Amino acid sequence: MDRIRIVGGNPLAGTIPVSGAKNAALPLMIASLLTPQTLTLENVPHLADVEQLIRILGNHGVDYSVNGKRDHQNGGTTSGYSRTINFTAENIVDTTAPYELVSKMRASFWVIGPVLARMGEAKVSLPGGCAIGTRPVDLFIEGLQALGADIDVDTGYVVAKAKNRLRGNRYTFPKVSVGATHVLMMAASLARGETVLENAAREPEVVNLAECLIAMGAKIHGAGTSTITIEGVDELSGAKVRVIPDRIETGTYAMAVAMTGGDVLLEGAQPDLLEAALDVIRKTGAEITPTNAGIRVKRNGAGIAPVDVTTEPFPGFPTDLQAQFMGLMTMAKGKSRITETIFENRFMHVQELARLGAHITLSGQTAIVEGVSKLKGAPVMATDLRASVSLVIAGLAAEGETTVNRVYHLDRGFERLEEKLSGCGAVIERISG
Ligand code: UD1
Repeated sequence: MDRIRIVGGNPLAGTIPVSGAKNAALPLMIASLLTPQTLTLENVPHLADVEQLIRILGNHGVDYSVNGKRDHQNGGTTSGYSRTINFTAENIVDTTAPYELVSKMRASFWVIGPVLARMGEAKVSLPGGCAIGTRPVDLFIEGLQALGADIDVDTGYVVAKAKNRLRGNRYTFPKVSVGATHVLMMAASLARGETVLENAAREPEVVNLAECLIAMGAKIHGAGTSTITIEGVDELSGAKVRVIPDRIETGTYAMAVAMTGGDVLLEGAQPDLLEAALDVIRKTGAEITPTNAGIRVKRNGAGIAPVDVTTEPFPGFPTDLQAQFMGLMTMAKGKSRITETIFENRFMHVQELARLGAHITLSGQTAIVEGVSKLKGAPVMATDLRASVSLVIAGLAAEGETTVNRVYHLDRGFERLEEKLSGCGAVIERISG
């Protein structure tokens, strides 16, 4: 298994290109199931999760080509940065998403929405994905039932049927869910009549999906607010849509600079996608300047100020930056409190950060971080995607050598991480085997 070796202590300086957002690319790819015509997606990041979803969509009959080339073996790519990929679901050949495929990535469960809406039936395995607490699917089931689907959960599969098409309805999410908002928006686009989703997720990825569906001919209003109205149409067409820049990758590298010091341009980053996180990073003492080319992050030697943070649905501070922020706070001049409200059990990075010399105590869903003046490199092990990258950030600031094991978590969500960081002066390399 590959490892990442880091020798810490260098400030970061230079330019890091920001990739297309994984969490936007995945639902957009899934939207291709809604139409027999071609959906062209620009700026799709080259990531293990994208390749995995290509396999899952292929199982349903989705054909794809990358920049005009067809390639079914390698996820259709050489080794370029974010690419343009065409997806065509001319015929859905299988309405079942099997356990072997879905268990590898939670987001693949989302095919249930478009497959059910287009084919009148879908059988999808209960999902897998990052081990961050129990992640149920009750909201998907309840929401699709509100649209008239008959649903059974049977031997690990959710079996959904809507023989006479889904029917528009009003549904209020009892809890904000990004995935369930994506799924219901896709399903309602092909339902009969009007659907109103209340307490919907407001994440930028929901807006990107709505833009895509609208370009495909859907009638959607209010995406980006907590009430989304969808007037169902009989069919959707092909379209060309661009994946938004990755706000989590942006925030991650901004925190890396805030921790190591230095001066980096995050090229292509969009500040409006992560204002809450940028405000917090500013409070730690870094200078954040939006420019025409992206976001410039700069920190001199003045030290890191402690800041308290609570994760919240968008527009609040994202849970996907919580681990990275904790990495930054381990070297703050004082005590900070980091509270996780979205996922239970999303503190697996705490004990690994402690191996580098961090002082963190847990009290329920809050971590109390007592800043130390230095961290020392050590072998560490990552247990989920965002936790892994928090260890990379801490390793960049630690004295000496850190090896991060189980790199496959990083490959799921960070395009060319080592290359981007070493381009800014970090000593970081991948060790194969
Ligand atoms: C998405 C993101 C993930 C991010 C999360 C929250 C993708 C591919 N993943 O995940 O990176 O951390 O949003 O911003 O976009 N819940 C239920 N029942 C359900 C569905 C969800 O109780 O049926 C709960 C979850 O357990 C969690 C909360 O709702 O506590 C929010 O989860 P949700 O927004 O659905 O996360 P995902 O869409 O899976």
